Amino acid sequence: MKIRENIAISTLTTMRLGGNARYVIDIESEEDVPAAYAFADEHELPIYILGSGSNIIGRDKGFNGIILVNKIRGMGIETEESEGCIELYSYSGELLDDFVRYSTRLGFSGIEALSAIPGTVGAAPVQNVGAYGQDISQTIVSVRAYDNLFEDFVEIPMVDMDLSYRHSIFNSGKDVGRYFITKVVVSLKRGELKPPFYNSLQKYLDDNDITEYSPETIRQAVRAVREGKLPDPAEIASSGSFFKNVYLTSDIDIKTAEAKGIPVWDGGKIPSGWLVENAGLKGQTFHGMRVWDKAALVLVNESAHSYADLAAAREEIIKQVQAKYGYTLEQEPMELGE
Ligand code: EPU
Repeated sequence: MKIRENIAISTLTTMRLGGNARYVIDIESEEDVPAAYAFADEHELPIYILGSGSNIIGRDKGFNGIILVNKIRGMGIETEESEGCIELYSYSGELLDDFVRYSTRLGFSGIEALSAIPGTVGAAPVQNVGAYGQDISQTIVSVRAYDNLFEDFVEIPMVDMDLSYRHSIFNSGKDVGRYFITKVVVSLKRGELKPPFYNSLQKYLDDNDITEYSPETIRQAVRAVREGKLPDPAEIASSGSFFKNVYLTSDIDIKTAEAKGIPVWDGGKIPSGWLVENAGLKGQTFHGMRVWDKAALVLVNESAHSYADLAAAREEIIKQVQAKYGYTLEQEPMELGE
């Protein structure tokens, strides 16, 4: 177990902001997890779990605690194929995209639309990661996790995770911080997928005359669509979508939005990217943070010096969208530190 002291959160996260964390521990095996919690108890410091840092923004004063960087690796077959169904597992420190590639190359579908999403497998259930009509709640069977309350490993089935849009027991409610997810099991199916696919994906398939819908083909199409629109966090500092989409629940609210000319997608989703773009903010820079030219839901850190710069930019965008459309956008990435 490697312990480092006074490490800048900016170096561990793709938005590249944030002050120092008191300690950083690399977790390389399941056995490291209880040892790290024991270290935290001994020093009376809180713990924060980080994967690849692609959906966490560090705050300026840093974190007087211990960041556990998840590097637990390995994937394979949990339950052999039977009647076209298979269960695959991945340890949580693997990159989600590597796990998706593993599944599509074996010819199984269920997570192919999650291709090229930055982040680790362990982060997928935490925020119920989703894209192009799929989210992990549709395929996840269970996770194995270290339960810090009872100081033991447990298996948590999908029904106990309370998964919904960007929400789970791991990021909301009384059990936040209780579990360290070490392994994820998904249930997948063999065979071709059936159209129609999510709008932008279907358009790409049509434009490129693709009519064969194997999981691997869909994976490559998703990668192409994402690459054309979203910045690669390895090159440009960003945390992917910066705002959550707006979800309307009442018919009256939906009718009111439509009457104003705002697009409402099935189930009541207003694409926040549309609101930001139509408020005239696409391509604009506020306090060193730029509204990405090709996808207005994404903010990139062009030259922000601090979390305070990001917060000022966020407030400006929220204010302008609120003034024009009356919806208050909410930030999507989580935050760490003070
Ligand atoms: N739109 C605009 N202008 C823009 C961007 C979007 O008008 O600049 C409108 C368009 O009408 C577009 C619609 O918004 O058709 C939806 O856009 P898109 O398909 O790009 O998806 P999104 O709703 O903006 C969500 C996820 C993404 C995920 C995509 C694809 C959230 C917060 N974001 O974005 O996830 O890749 O769907 O399924 O739900 C992420 O979370 O970091 C992320 C990238």
